[in-house]
Amino acid sequence: MHETTQQLEMFDAEKVPTSTQSVTKVTNRCELLVGDARRLLSQMPDKYFNCIITSPPYWGLRDYGVTGQIGSESTVEEYIADLVLLFREARRTLADDGTFWLNIGDSYTSGGRTWRDADAKNKGRAMEYRAPTPEGLKPKDLIGVPWKLAFALQADGWYLRTDIIWNKPNCQPESVKDRPTRSHEYLFLFSKSEKYYYDWQAIMEPAADRKQKSKNRRSVWNIATEPYPGSHFAVYPRALVRLCVAAGTRENGRVLDPFFGSGTTGVICNELGRLCVGIELKAEYAQLARERLLRGR
Ligand SMILES: C[S@@+](CC[C@H](N)C(=O)[O-])C[C@H]1O[C@@H](n2cnc3c(N)ncnc32)[C@H](O)[C@@H]1O
Repeated sequence: MHETTQQLEMFDAEKVPTSTQSVTKVTNRCELLVGDARRLLSQMPDKYFNCIITSPPYWGLRDYGVTGQIGSESTVEEYIADLVLLFREARRTLADDGTFWLNIGDSYTSGGRTWRDADAKNKGRAMEYRAPTPEGLKPKDLIGVPWKLAFALQADGWYLRTDIIWNKPNCQPESVKDRPTRSHEYLFLFSKSEKYYYDWQAIMEPAADRKQKSKNRRSVWNIATEPYPGSHFAVYPRALVRLCVAAGTRENGRVLDPFFGSGTTGVICNELGRLCVGIELKAEYAQLARERLLRGR
């Protein structure tokens, strides 16, 4: 594997403090910063990125086993407050006509349990703790995290432009018999300003009507989850990210993913000729992302 550790080349060198460590230019188009996104974002220049595409850890669902991880807050309010602050800083780094695509899933209250058993299929689901039932909710309640977060971000100044339902035709089966199996997550489109860059033609969908070949993309996206052979367990599918990158940026546009994980956003930016900066807290995942970016898929 060939890789060089160097200063963040894509940034204006004068604006990026020389103390920024662990910056790796993985490919010509993609750079990776290892550390807490809250700290690293504060070192980045204003209005630099054209688009932010990311999926933060879900609240109380997965333990990434690393200090500083978001998602392990003991209340949903703390989790949302942490994300609002982080994305406020990210908004500062976003161009005025930039967009922010946020993938987020929901979870249920614990029903009185204080920890979650390891899931044989999905080891990352084991938690050392299980967050207490949020105030005002009952055991078995759906928490509504995506909308709580969306409204909090809206109140913080983001323009909430649309919710997109990411429908997973191959969702994980659930053993529940008192509600439908959950087969979707949310993708929210936010903008920094009232007017913003959005290439609707780049993501048109086929029209049923034969006279009209394609139509404006609808707000339900049917996209199968993609298993990722590495040890990272919450990867979003390339097809989902492809649509966000295509609509949110021009060629050579700059994309930020502050929760890079296995680097899916970077893979698509390489593929579509965009530049990408990814931030990942966990060194082991950052390594996976490097390997994946070099493999190119
Ligand atoms: C849901 S995963 C992202 C997966 C990614 N979209 C992919 O396709 O691989 C969330 C990631 O955020 C990372 N993370 C958690 N807290 C963080 C923080 N404070 N700063 C940066 N990354 C963090 C976790 O280690 C995890 O890899």
